[in-house]
Amino acid sequence: LDNGLALTPPMGWMSWERFRCNTDCKNDPLNCISENLFKTMADEMVLKGFKDAGYEYIIIDDCWLDHQRDENGKLTPDPERFPSGIKALADYVHNLGLKFGIYEDYGNFTCGGYPGILGYLEQDAQTFAEWEVDYIKLDGCYVDIHQMDTGYPDFGDYLNKTGRPIVYSCSWPAYWEDEVPDYPKIAQYCNLWRNYGDIQDSWTDVLDIIDHYGDQQNVFAQFAGPGQWNDPDMLIIGNFALSMEQSKLQMAVWAVLAAPLIMSNDLRNIRPEFTEILTNRNVIKINQDPLGHQGRRMFQDKKAQIDIYVKQVLPMANGNTSGAVVIMYRGNDGTPVEVEFTPEQIGLSHFNGYTMFEVFENEELGLVMPAETVKVKVNPNGAQLLKLVANSARMFNGVESSWHP
Ligand code: GLA
Repeated sequence: LDNGLALTPPMGWMSWERFRCNTDCKNDPLNCISENLFKTMADEMVLKGFKDAGYEYIIIDDCWLDHQRDENGKLTPDPERFPSGIKALADYVHNLGLKFGIYEDYGNFTCGGYPGILGYLEQDAQTFAEWEVDYIKLDGCYVDIHQMDTGYPDFGDYLNKTGRPIVYSCSWPAYWEDEVPDYPKIAQYCNLWRNYGDIQDSWTDVLDIIDHYGDQQNVFAQFAGPGQWNDPDMLIIGNFALSMEQSKLQMAVWAVLAAPLIMSNDLRNIRPEFTEILTNRNVIKINQDPLGHQGRRMFQDKKAQIDIYVKQVLPMANGNTSGAVVIMYRGNDGTPVEVEFTPEQIGLSHFNGYTMFEVFENEELGLVMPAETVKVKVNPNGAQLLKLVANSARMFNGVESSWHP
């Protein structure tokens, strides 16, 4: 969607995966969906350095609404859990220098059974603008999928008419299981969109989503770019399921897929080593690369359990992009494996070669020519993230000289 927003993948925090539809503030006041939860998470985003690393949006997912609209048909939050109202919460978030997002559903009900926007498109767009919402996730439960092709654009037009810049996240394609959704239209009307099922706090799910992105890359990868992103769903790093290696893998693959980096975790008690992964500047830089290229699976060996995804990134040299390369090993066979590949085998064939870096630690690993064999160790359930920077000239003993082919 060409509305000047989300020129790089949006970054932020969203409640769903970690906090779900917990409405029991009586027995579980610290974890229920309430204004306090979002205020606290916004505070933590700033205190723990997430904001400085680029995380920006605090997003309420489902279960914030009252069970009915008010007498004028206006959306209202649950009065006990959001006593100050949504505008006050948005103000709180804005005062921290962050942006504010909210959830609704295009259908008759949200997935959690709260009022949807069907029949109230214009009024709800105005309400969100009045509340100074910066990001809307519009889900697709309780509606015929064929209504979506006009419904999502209609709501987008109403958002646009409010004059407020609002990132528009559409769950539109996620509900098309047997037919191919209209991706050109989706990319025209939405800033990001879910393609696939919900992520749970599970390593198997992380792999399943990655495989879907690899298997279906020819269907939807080409629609990713500035202002329009495929969304493989939330980062679950810092929760219960993923180890350190698995967390690095999710972070690296999400970066290379140009995925929105929307965390769903508990920032109050996240362990520092997970915060470190989530705020790694070098990895984020790959995700936020201005070219906006969605990485593709360029190599797969199912028997060896190795997959390699490559994203084109800046800088460019002689018309060749650099490459961010994630090599993943999903095996459980206790010891690291050595993986061999040549840059040209994964689409990196610049005649001046590349300077290679390990990304997490930003360690320089030396020069490599397109046909040269690269060997890397990859940990079980883990990934290596490399950056191959295209050389504009070759270096000999640290001295730049022009390359004679
Ligand atoms: C759907 C969405 C999830 C979440 C829930 C809320 O399942 O895909 O991301 O928003 O609804 O009920």
